[in-house]
Amino acid sequence: MSEQFASPVTIALLTEMKRAGEKFACLTAYDASFAAVLDAAGVELIMIGDSLGMVIQGHDSTLPVRMNDMIYHSQCVARGSRRALRVVDMPYRSYDMPAEALGNAARLMTEGQAQMVKLEGGAVQVETVRQLTAHGIPVCGHLGLLPQSVKQLGGYRVQGRDAKDAQTILADAKALQAAGVGLLVVECVPASLGRDITQALDIPVIGIGAGPDCDAQVLVLYDMLGITPGKRAKFVKDFMLDAGSVQAALESYVRAVKTGSYPAPEHCY
Ligand code: KIV
Repeated sequence: MSEQFASPVTIALLTEMKRAGEKFACLTAYDASFAAVLDAAGVELIMIGDSLGMVIQGHDSTLPVRMNDMIYHSQCVARGSRRALRVVDMPYRSYDMPAEALGNAARLMTEGQAQMVKLEGGAVQVETVRQLTAHGIPVCGHLGLLPQSVKQLGGYRVQGRDAKDAQTILADAKALQAAGVGLLVVECVPASLGRDITQALDIPVIGIGAGPDCDAQVLVLYDMLGITPGKRAKFVKDFMLDAGSVQAALESYVRAVKTGSYPAPEHCY
């Protein structure tokens, strides 16, 4: 069936795909035009990521992004996308306390037309996740490399390399699932840890630099189209290199994720 007429993707559908061992493809988008092209290429989930602070606004981190920026770009994507599930990042400092998180997440859901919100962190976010889900707001967790904590981490580094750190991340993943997250992003960890988390959880795990065994993959759109300046992370593949058009590059990404040919060993830690 043409993607144009396919039913909207739900969290339940993605969970069913995990159970069936069927991988799904995710990408970021920040505007209506790209959102429509991603839908047409068969991307199941669009992340309106605070990576927009870097690739759209030109900052050197995601920290300067504000609630109104997220709402604006989320609205733009909602106008272009009919099928993919839209997950919107809660920006830095917008969810320090559970009550504040609830107000801001509700704005993303109503004004921004988000279908799910994403926040970074493990055990420290358990109370906030409980609060949001108790109020009917679906939450996606984010573990491993946490871009909003880049100053504390001392740079964009692989996380969970030693056994103790890996155990902490795995325990955080289980705690977030128990608190009610419906999806989990795991960023920049060894492939063995990506596999262990994916096997330990019932909810779908979306990897970015977390190896081939995650239930899904996500990349920043501009990275996989080869238009991000500077040094590229090891896990990024430029799908434009062998493609004649943006549409072909996106279709090739979706195919590679679904068949498991991306990420290849050279993209893994
Ligand atoms: O900000 C972002 O775009 C993200 C995804 C790439 C995981 O968090």
